[in-house]
Order: sequence, then C-alpha cells, then structure tokens
Amino acid sequence: MCGIVGYIGGQSAYPIIINGLKRLEYRGYDSAGIALYNGKSTSVYKKYGKVSDLENSVAGLDTNGCLGIGHTRWATHGEPNDKNAHPHMSMHGKFVIVHNGIIENYNNLKKRLTTRGYTFKSETDSEVLADLIEYIYELSPISPDDAVQLALRKVQGAYGIVVMCTDHPDRLIAARKSSPLVIGIGDKEYFIGSDASPFVEYTDQVVYLDNDQIAVISREGLNIKSINNAVVTPEIKKVDIDFDEIEKGGFSHFMLKEIYEQPRSITDTMRGRVLSEVDKITLGGLIDVMPRLMNARRIIIVGCGTSWHAGLMGEYLFEEYARIPVEVEYASEFRYRNPIINQEDVVIAISQSGETADTLAAIQLAKKCGACVLGICNVVGSSIARETDAGVYTHAGVEIGVASTKAFTAQVSVLAMMALMIGRAKYNIKSADYHQLIRELMSIPEKIEHILKSADHIKEIAEKYKDSSNALYLGRGCYYPVALEGALKLKEISYIHAEGYPAAEMKHGPIALIDDKMPVIVIATKDKGYEKIVNNIQEVKARKGIVIAVITEGDTTIAAMADHVIEVPAVENAVGAMITVVPLQLLSYYIAIMRGCNVDQPRNLAKSVTVE
Ligand code: F6R
Repeated sequence: MCGIVGYIGGQSAYPIIINGLKRLEYRGYDSAGIALYNGKSTSVYKKYGKVSDLENSVAGLDTNGCLGIGHTRWATHGEPNDKNAHPHMSMHGKFVIVHNGIIENYNNLKKRLTTRGYTFKSETDSEVLADLIEYIYELSPISPDDAVQLALRKVQGAYGIVVMCTDHPDRLIAARKSSPLVIGIGDKEYFIGSDASPFVEYTDQVVYLDNDQIAVISREGLNIKSINNAVVTPEIKKVDIDFDEIEKGGFSHFMLKEIYEQPRSITDTMRGRVLSEVDKITLGGLIDVMPRLMNARRIIIVGCGTSWHAGLMGEYLFEEYARIPVEVEYASEFRYRNPIINQEDVVIAISQSGETADTLAAIQLAKKCGACVLGICNVVGSSIARETDAGVYTHAGVEIGVASTKAFTAQVSVLAMMALMIGRAKYNIKSADYHQLIRELMSIPEKIEHILKSADHIKEIAEKYKDSSNALYLGRGCYYPVALEGALKLKEISYIHAEGYPAAEMKHGPIALIDDKMPVIVIATKDKGYEKIVNNIQEVKARKGIVIAVITEGDTTIAAMADHVIEVPAVENAVGAMITVVPLQLLSYYIAIMRGCNVDQPRNLAKSVTVE
C-alpha cells in the first residue's frame, strides 16, 4: 500500500521516479507526488489522481535535479486530494517526506506539536512525522539523520519513509518498520523502492532494509544503523526480476496477461520440485522442517483475501492426502483473538506480496507461541518470507494486477505439492495413487491452456450478464473455495455484488435471492459431489434461476439443464480442482471491461495491504 521511490546519483531523477511510480501504482493510485532538488532549491509537486495526472500537471515546470523522492498513495488518513498527497514538507521547509504505513499515535504527536506552534496543511499522519523530525532537528544542532532517528523513537505504528533535508541535499534518509523498502545499488547512484520494480533496468544489486533500520544514502555510499544506533553491515542481494514481467507484453491489461500466464507460472512453480520420472516431490525449503510437518498435531493456515481462499483449498488437500487436521484462519481475526497455538502446531502463512500486515502479525504471534511457522510467498525476500522458519516460494512472477489470479493457482500448486509430499512420506498414499496424482499435477498447465481457448465463449456469456446487480457462486468440497474466489474476483473488479456459497448451504438462505435475473455460477465438474451438485442446479432451475455451469467436457446432463456451460477438461481429484477458477477469472475480467471498470486498479483497492 502506497508506493515509494527515491533516487540519488548522477542521472536526472524525475524520469526515474515517475517511471518507478508507474510501476508501483498497483500499491495505491488515489494521488501521487514528487519532490526534487535542482541544485539550489527543492520543489514539491502533488496531484490528486494517477501518476499520469501528476505528470501532466508538472509539464513545463522545473523538473531538474539528480535527487528526489516520489509517492503514489492509497489513502489512510485524510481523503484523496492534492493537499493530502505526498510528499509532505515540514512547516519550516526543512524536511520533505514520503511515507507508507500508519503512525498510530499521530494525534497525540500532533497535539504536542500544536502547542509548540505547529500548524498543518493536510489531514495526514505523515505530515505530523515530517514536523516532528523538523521540531527535533531545530531543538539542538544535530544531523538530519539523528533527527529522523530520534523522531522515530517517538512513533508508534508502521512506516516505510524516505526523507530529504533541504539543509543537507546531499543525502536521502530511509527507514522502515513493517512497510517494505528496498535500496538498489548502482555506480555512485542509489535507488529506493517499495519493491525493486522501479529500478530493475538500472541494477539488480539490492539491500532489503529491515525493521527498525535507518539508511543514510549519499552518492558516496550507504550507511545503515538500527534505530537504537547499532551499526548494520548491509547485506547485498541479487534481485531476479525479468523486465518483461513488469510490462503488459501486448495484453490490454496486466490482469489478462496474468490470467494467460498461468500455464507458465504453474510450470515454474513445479519446476525441479515435481520429478515425474521418479514419482517424487521435493520441496527444498521444507527439508529441514519435514519432521515437524509430519508430526504436526494440526496445521493452521493464515492469509487474507485470495490467499485465504488458497488456504481453504489447502485444508482440503492436507486433510485428504496428508491426513493432518487443518484450520484456516483470516489472519486479521486470528491475531486479535487469543488463539490456542502450541509447539506441535505448524502455521502456514500464505501471501502473494509477503507484506500483508495482518498476515505478518499472525505469524509473529504464532512464533511467540512456539509453533513452526512456514511461508508460501511470491515475492522473494519479502517480510513474511524472511520472518518464517522455512517456506516455499510460488514462482508465479511479478503480479501487478490488483486482483490476484496467477498467484492463487501457484499457491494452490504449492499446497498440493506439500500435501502430496507429506501424504506420501506418511505412507497415506499408495504408490500407484501417488503416480496418478503427480500426473494430475503435471497436467494442470496443459488443461489451463485448453480452458484459455474458450475465452471468446466466456466473453459472450459476460456480454449477457454484464448489467447484473448480483451474482451467486456455488461449489462443493474443494470447489467451494473456487466459488468464493470467483465471487471475490467479480466484486472487486466489476463492483457487482457477488457471494460464494457451499452449494448445499443455498437452501438455508441464499435460495431466497434466486430470480430470473441473477446469474448463479455453479462449479459442477464430474467429481465426488457430482450427483449432489446436479440436484442443486435443479433447485435453482425450479425457481427460474439462471445457471452458468462450469462442467466437465462432454457432460450432456448438466448441459441440458443449465442456461450456459463452460467446459473444462476432466479433473480426476482435488489436486487439479484449481483449474476451474480460470474461467471464473476470465468471466469477471470481461464483465468488468464491458462495464468500463479499471480492472488493474479497481476503486478503493491496492495490492500489498501493509496497513492493518
Ligand atoms: C484479491 C486480492 C486480495 C489479496 C489479499 C492478500 O484479488 O488480491 O484479496 O489476496 O490482500 O494479499 P497477499 O496475498 O499479498 O497477502
């Protein structure tokens, strides 16, 4: 949430920062701003709207300078407008700040600064922090770095900040607590980003700033210390982002590109891990914790949104194959009750971004209770990846569309691999079945490739229901999370109200909603619950409901009952169930496009929810 970019070096900072902000726009896009030092003075430009609106508004103005910071915002304190946009300049003009996160005690700090004569131009917590730094700086002769450090000691909450000091325009000061910041290292130049995407074309050498660390960055070098003054030796890592991953590559939207990337992203997630020639699954990241996993009394899966849906698929897979009881928890709820966790529990955190604040807090709680904590993350080096005891990366590649698509199928692929690996190691799965399950896993990319060929047919269905106000998604067993995910995709990008339900629950309430206008999307492939789901479809039809059924190729029974069908290749067991989400992703995408919605940047949302 909120994207931050900074640059110091020999190049013109403006294009680097503007292009960087465009790449980070998935993190927030209600306003944007930039501060530049042109060798004599510092200019701050801010604009309500997208980065392109900012760009238009500064056309013709002075954008010179080799040092600057930029921000694209997802509002927390204060409505989205020009004055609440970042960067924020302190009252006496000494400090300019960009901030991602929430300063929880900002009201208190604001009151105290007010009694000392400070007035505020915006409603943000971030401006208060800029003023606090300035207030401390002006009290006694100290360096701007020390002022930032002292101010941060007074702050409660989460922050990723980059600060410019107008008295010392030879440096940038960056600090983080619970909001990510990455420093890119070039030749006498440094880049800062909320992730590495803003600067991948300039350098692949990065330092991930850790919690409670402050970096002072000048053209001559990078110095990092802890908030308590301990010197930190920067650990330089190589970041591996392919430039093509952050471009649309001929697709009209990132979301569509990412839907189409799924055969590749699932293949990449399984590469080197599923060895079909020898019927073996090896997840290198879990080798050391295998004994704990095999002896786990219980697995608790935590996540939010789509990652939580993947967790529900995981529950089904672990219970079916590994025979370990599973609980799936919303990270945001888990952390605020008093959950009973002990040392025999394994907690698995699922997160695309690896930065979701609630998920991060949930794993910190689980660690405190002595559980073994594992991560399934997409972003390498992310906070969750670093905080967990062990884990598995989903190699889905950079996901930019705010609605998660390829990350979901990659997460479920990892969960399927884990469940099968543990199940086999515990002798719950017979050799012949294991062979068959591995075949099923390996066939997923090809099956998705096949489903993607139905895009035009799905588009025709979308055209018919694009003006609906409501939609119901139904599924049974491992298809229930698919129904939830289908409903989430539709509501978040098309703003149509949609609900996912276990099909059999329909008669306990939602059946009252059925009429001849609301589409009911049923995942009804030939599987364990097939006969039952046929009954559920009949119940909908008996009430003149409209049924769009996702069915197994060649199923004439449901085809004769449903108003529309979308055929998918046969899935023989839970391992391949995730393929049924793909037509639902496409359906949501086309409906949203036809309604004129911005699918990559839906209203009010942002990717990487780093606030609670
Ligand atoms: C839905 C979506 C969100 C995220 C959720 C968790 O399409 O993108 O619901 O799934 O915010 O994010 P991560 O997986 O990054 O923890």
